[in-house]
Amino acid sequence: GDTPKRRVAVFGAGYIGLVTGACLAELGHQVVVRDISPEKIELLRSGEIPIYEPGLGDMIVRNKERLTFTLDLQEALASAEVVYVCVDTPPSASGDADLSRVWSVVRSLEGAPRLRVVAMKSTVPVGTGTRVREALDAAGLGHVGYAANPEFTAEGTAVNDFLHPDRVVVGASDEETARLVAQLHEGVDGPVVRMDVRSAEMVKLASNALLATKISFINEIATLCEKTGADVEEVARAVGLDHRLGHHFLRPGIGWGGSCFPKDSEALRQLASNTGYHLQLLSAVIEVNNLQKRRAIQKLKDVLGTLAGGRVTLLGLTFKPGTDDMREAPSTVLAARLLAEGAEVRCWDPMARPAETEPWTSTTRHATPETALDGADAAIVVTEWPQLKEVDWARAASAMRRPVLFDGRNMLDPAGMRALGFTYLGVGRP
Ligand code: UGA
Repeated sequence: GDTPKRRVAVFGAGYIGLVTGACLAELGHQVVVRDISPEKIELLRSGEIPIYEPGLGDMIVRNKERLTFTLDLQEALASAEVVYVCVDTPPSASGDADLSRVWSVVRSLEGAPRLRVVAMKSTVPVGTGTRVREALDAAGLGHVGYAANPEFTAEGTAVNDFLHPDRVVVGASDEETARLVAQLHEGVDGPVVRMDVRSAEMVKLASNALLATKISFINEIATLCEKTGADVEEVARAVGLDHRLGHHFLRPGIGWGGSCFPKDSEALRQLASNTGYHLQLLSAVIEVNNLQKRRAIQKLKDVLGTLAGGRVTLLGLTFKPGTDDMREAPSTVLAARLLAEGAEVRCWDPMARPAETEPWTSTTRHATPETALDGADAAIVVTEWPQLKEVDWARAASAMRRPVLFDGRNMLDPAGMRALGFTYLGVGRP
């Protein structure tokens, strides 16, 4: 297009910052990504990426003329017209999002010579924009516009989600800022939706909360299916055919995890309670998600009697397949509970790098699902990695001490598994 290419500084080289930086460079903008971690920047400069995200590495290499990495604040700010804030906002002890990294970026912008817009990608509480505005004004940056530009990319498909979004939400108080941020997205295949800053901040939290609600809803229906003899897979398929409901996020399972849903739903609940309102529905959605993990353990106990002394294999550790991300993964809760029940826990995952802390220091990691299953009393499919479809389950059934399998993602065929001798348990299916 004819719209000008911009000079953009992205603060934060995590999932969001790298995807944002790489995609903006792909769109033709000149991007510098700044992070405070020397290890990360060194790695990125050597052409490697610190995370696993399909397509991202290639995109970074392809755009190396337009995409640089730096530790140096002045270098990042010298020519930046737009600053993207992409730092993480972890939960704090109070339940509110910890915005200290956001504030340290905002504080560092004073004196940026060519800055025109600060755009927020980090997920922040509603009202943060107003506080950033005040901070910019106080720092002599009253002429700089502010935009809330939340991201809706999912891990594993982030690059595609950025370039082909359902929508690009731009919240800004002035027309010029909104236009500049919209223009930055020229070439992106999706509509730009403009609104005020607070509404844009709310869209992000409301979207994730509604997605989490759909999952918890179908998980509760799955529980009821177990008690009534219905099959939740059939139910979800037909319910999803109603276009008003849609089939997305109706896959029952062991519960939602990841870097976003748990954190964002807590943050939204906290945001509400700070205003004096208790979010009824969201609280139940979170409770159902916690219950789902407790029920998984209970299912094994119902079959094995006791877990004490039993060997239990966790198949898949990441919060979903296609990522190496272990943040808020249900596997961590399951491993801790199994250990607490006195079980010996072994695990397999093709990608995860679990922390060197409990419960992982007390579990045995195996290189293949087969060796992880050898001699086990029960196994749980925690993450639906496609590799699990390729396991020689007939061999596994005879190699296990007791062939008990809880398919926490309903990815295997119940009849087929039973024919191989498994005591097969699914989620909400007979
Ligand atoms: C999620 C949203 O999907 C993105 O739109 C959003 O931008 C992102 O959070 C964010 O806020 O940054 P992500 O956390 O990467 O993306 O992962 P999802 O694919 O949404 O999965 C979240 C969890 O829900 C996973 O644990 C997954 O196993 C579970 N899930 C998902 C189900 O149990 N059932 C489903 O039907 C779908």
